[in-house]
Amino acid sequence: MKFFLDTADVGKIKAAVEMGMCDGVTTNPTIIMKSGRGQKEVVQEIAALVPGPVSVEGISEDADGMVKEGTEFAKWAKNIVVKLPMTKEGLKAARILEKKGIKTNVTLVFSANQALLAAKAGASYVSPFVGRLDDVSEDGMQLIADIMDILSNYEFKTEVIVASVRDPVHVMDAARMGAHIATIPPDVFEKLFKHPLTDRGIAQFKEDYAKSKK
Ligand code: E4P
Repeated sequence: MKFFLDTADVGKIKAAVEMGMCDGVTTNPTIIMKSGRGQKEVVQEIAALVPGPVSVEGISEDADGMVKEGTEFAKWAKNIVVKLPMTKEGLKAARILEKKGIKTNVTLVFSANQALLAAKAGASYVSPFVGRLDDVSEDGMQLIADIMDILSNYEFKTEVIVASVRDPVHVMDAARMGAHIATIPPDVFEKLFKHPLTDRGIAQFKEDYAKSKK
């Protein structure tokens, strides 16, 4: 399973890359805004740090605009993936960009049929948003189970990125379901390492070592 970081925080990305835990990065306009930096500048810095795909999202609403924007993004670095909204225009743009050899990530996916459409359009990645579904009292992880089940019946190249991850249980369930990727916010990534019994065990061993015969 691949871990992407869902952030534009270069320091946190660098630390995770150094641990071999960051296989890629996803951004969106909100994440870029929170970074306080310009999109091109920060994305190029991230793309140079990360060995894997870095998703970048534009704001065009029509396929022509998305293709223009995506073609420009793809010049920023060789590992850029163009994020496209789950609309008819977004899917048209995905098909065109993929034919040009530019990888796409269809985002804002909230149903299994939307994921199926993105796969049929030839997108390299599809991003179902689990946390936002949970927020409206739907079962985000059930959507991942349905998508994995459906895609496993066919030979689509599309990889599923579990997005809008809010807690470590989302990551564990994504892995259990065989999702290809989880894109994880830095605070949730930190929580993956933690268990109170690990901390207590380390403290106990340290204490006992100090008391043992030297
Ligand atoms: C995914 O690519 C998105 O950037 C992200 O996961 C959205 O998460 P949010 O619902 O927490 O904003």
